[in-house]
Parts: sequence; structure tokens; C-alpha cells
Amino acid sequence: MKSLPAIFALLMASFATAQPGVADKRQLVELPAPMAQHMLANMRDHLQALVEIQKALGAGQFDAAAAVAEKRLGMSSLDAHGAAHMAAFMPKGMQDSGTQMHRAASRFALVAQEAGAGGSPLRPMQALAAVTEQCVACHAAYRVH
Ligand code: HEC
Repeated sequence: MKSLPAIFALLMASFATAQPGVADKRQLVELPAPMAQHMLANMRDHLQALVEIQKALGAGQFDAAAAVAEKRLGMSSLDAHGAAHMAAFMPKGMQDSGTQMHRAASRFALVAQEAGAGGSPLRPMQALAAVTEQCVACHAAYRVH
């Protein structure tokens, strides 16, 4: 059995490798400060939208889940996010990642509507994971600060 100090040393070593900033391979995208703030505020709303979608799904309110997804995350959200203006400051890969996320959200909205009309109640969960996957992919590749 390992001694307590040895276990502590192992724990500290695992924290060190998990620290953000240590061997951070994400690409820094330099945005003008107000734009970065605007983007991060959108991001927080994205996360809030996921909460509302999950709550609606859990309550079997498929149309409500679809509406939140389309309006806040889907292709219909692009104008509200000032996406066209922001895109000019982003590398191509980041733009594509954003587009994939908005598309996945609009696909989710359709799948959720189908569930509401008698389709499988499980498919929306898979379609939602396809949205979250795009959040993860972009976060893994880019940072703004
Ligand atoms: C096109 C790329 C991209 C996509 C897609 C994306 N994000 Fe982000 N997000 C970022 C970047 C870049 C940051 C800033 C990270 C950094 O600088 O460390 C960020 C930060 C955040 C933050 C932190 C906000 C803050 O106040 O600091 C949250 C929360 C977040 N994203 C949620 C989401 C959610 C939820 C999704 C999917 C529905 C999503 N994001 C999709 C690029 C993206």
C-alpha cells in the first residue's frame, strides 16, 4: 500500500496536468475586447439554452425544446448573435465549427418536433448530443483569452 505522502504527490501531479494553461494547445483567436465579451455572453446563453432544452425534454415538452433550440442555437439564431460580423474575425475552422453547431441545433429542433408528433422520444437525446459535441469540438480547438 502507498504511503499518504505518496498518494498526495500523485494527486498533485494529476492536478498539475489538468490545469488549463499547462500545455494548452488551443489556438488563441484575438478578438477586439467588446466582441470577445459579446461572444462570451452568447456562450453563457448557449449553456442556459441547453438547460432549458433538457428540462423541456425531461417534461416531454418536445415542441418547447425544439423552439428553444431553433431560436437560441439554431440557424435562426445567427442574426441575433451578429454571426456574420463576428465571422470576419474568426479563423475558417472556427467559423465552420460554429456553422456545424447551428446546423446540429436546427436538426435537433426537427427531431424533437417529430418526437412530439409521435416519433421516438429517445432520438432527441442523440440529436442533442450532436449539438453538445460541436460545443466541445470548438472549445477543444480555440480560445479567446
Ligand atoms: C465556434 C466555436 C464555439 C462553439 C461552437 C461553441 N463555443 Fe463556447 N466558447 C468558445 C470559445 C473560443 C470560448 C472562450 C474559451 C477561452 O477563451 O478559454 C467559449 C466559451 C464558452 C463559455 C464560457 C463563457 C464565459 O463567460 O467565459 C461557455 C459557458 C460556453 N462557451 C458554452 C458553449 C456551449 C454550451 C456551446 C454549444 C451549444 C458552445 N459554447 C459552442 C467557442 C465556441
